[in-house]
Amino acid sequence: MTKRLFIKTYGCQMNVYDSDRMAEILAPLGYAPGDTPETADLVILNTCHIREKASEKVYSELGRLRPVKEARGCLIAVAGCTAQAEGAEILRRMPFVDVVVGPQSYHRLPELVARASRAGGAALDTDFPVDSKFDHLPETAGASGPAAFLTVQEGCDKFCTFCVVPYTRGAEFSRPIADVEREARRLVAGGAREITLLGQNVNAYHGRDAAGGETGLGGLIRHLAAIPGLERLRYTTSHPRDVDDALIAAHGEEPKLMPYLHLPVQSGADRILAAMNRGHDAAHYLRIVERLRAARPDLALSSDFIVGFPGESDADFAATLDLVRAVGFAGAFSFKFSARPGTPAAALDGQIPEPTKDERLQTLQALLREQAEAFNRAMLGRVVPVLVERRGRHPGQAVGRSPWLQAVHFDAPDAPIGSLVMVRLARLGPNSVAGERADATGAAA
Ligand code: SAH
Ligand code: SF4
Ligand code: F3S
Repeated sequence: MTKRLFIKTYGCQMNVYDSDRMAEILAPLGYAPGDTPETADLVILNTCHIREKASEKVYSELGRLRPVKEARGCLIAVAGCTAQAEGAEILRRMPFVDVVVGPQSYHRLPELVARASRAGGAALDTDFPVDSKFDHLPETAGASGPAAFLTVQEGCDKFCTFCVVPYTRGAEFSRPIADVEREARRLVAGGAREITLLGQNVNAYHGRDAAGGETGLGGLIRHLAAIPGLERLRYTTSHPRDVDDALIAAHGEEPKLMPYLHLPVQSGADRILAAMNRGHDAAHYLRIVERLRAARPDLALSSDFIVGFPGESDADFAATLDLVRAVGFAGAFSFKFSARPGTPAAALDGQIPEPTKDERLQTLQALLREQAEAFNRAMLGRVVPVLVERRGRHPGQAVGRSPWLQAVHFDAPDAPIGSLVMVRLARLGPNSVAGERADATGAAA
């Protein structure tokens, strides 16, 4: 009998990737994807622990699920980073939860689900097993969307003082090149034209290669670019400390590597960067950006910022604004510092009052919004290849991404999903760019 599975995913793309793998692992047990938690036999919350707001969501969602469970007797599992960090606490506050499983042990979900349904008690697994989950995930040759994610690296050894990831995801680990290539070929065979390589620190990648040595991310990108039918490569999230010569060269020489890079900097103030344990100063970041742009002049950048880190003065914040002005970002995410239990920064003196954080965030976001708009405006009139990812809301409309990750919609009733279409960028919308098809024949670019 088919059972229904509903997975709700929070957090980063790595969780999106993990959620898809969980669905694949559970398929042989008869679980097929369902549309709502209310009709599901198994509900999985794949959680994020990065900021307090993110991790609190799991408790409110579980509160909503409780009556669903009481009415229908479904199983409830909590996976992901909050499960890893607060597994026991989740079971204490929400005793009706059946399974708690961390990000490195979810390949054991079938056993855990079986154990929970048999015993009627909770099954908890937040191990960091010595053998990698990747060795236990099924190799499926299923359909893939045109733009797919592929996790190549997991975990983090950098221990930025504000961050929970080294504790929730564990130590840095890179998948061997051959494994990554096999998965990339499967994705392409299933319909992927673009692959985004994922890792908490993706450019710390150092996977075993065919010669028995190790290859970095630049080498991996060149290797994957040779796969026929794969048109675009991206990677995220990278760290300024691990941008090496081979990676910069790949940006200059590998046309399939898209000219858009997410390179988080967090702050523009050297004393804050040091207190964050980022391992570089503002000048290093600017120098990396300069070298990347020299290799690939049309490279656009995005970044992450934290405002209100403990001890951040007005002058420190002004240094962040200076760095933003010096770089000119095409996009960005910015956050108020959130003190996370167990991280060194949570215990630092000089915690910044909430109103100051709010004010700084607004100032920074206004500048970043201005820059993003200026970037998109400067692109108007240009003809760019767009990878069609789905149909739009209006009849005949296609929606996809430009090389610079801009969402573009345009009229093309006959452009198949997965095709690359030349589009003239015409008008700025609130969250996307409206374009017009530029190739009369519809031939792929
Ligand atoms: N590995 C990536 C980032 C992963 S977390 C890197 O090193 O850049 C994604 C973003 O969340 C971070 O870049 C940071 O901007 C933000 N973040 C992480 N911990 C945070 C905290 N305690 N408070 C506020 N923002 C945080
Ligand atoms: Fe967190 Fe720093 Fe590791 Fe990024 S590099 S995941 S911010 S500890
Ligand atoms: Fe969140 Fe874990 Fe990703 S804390 S950002 S889901 S690595």
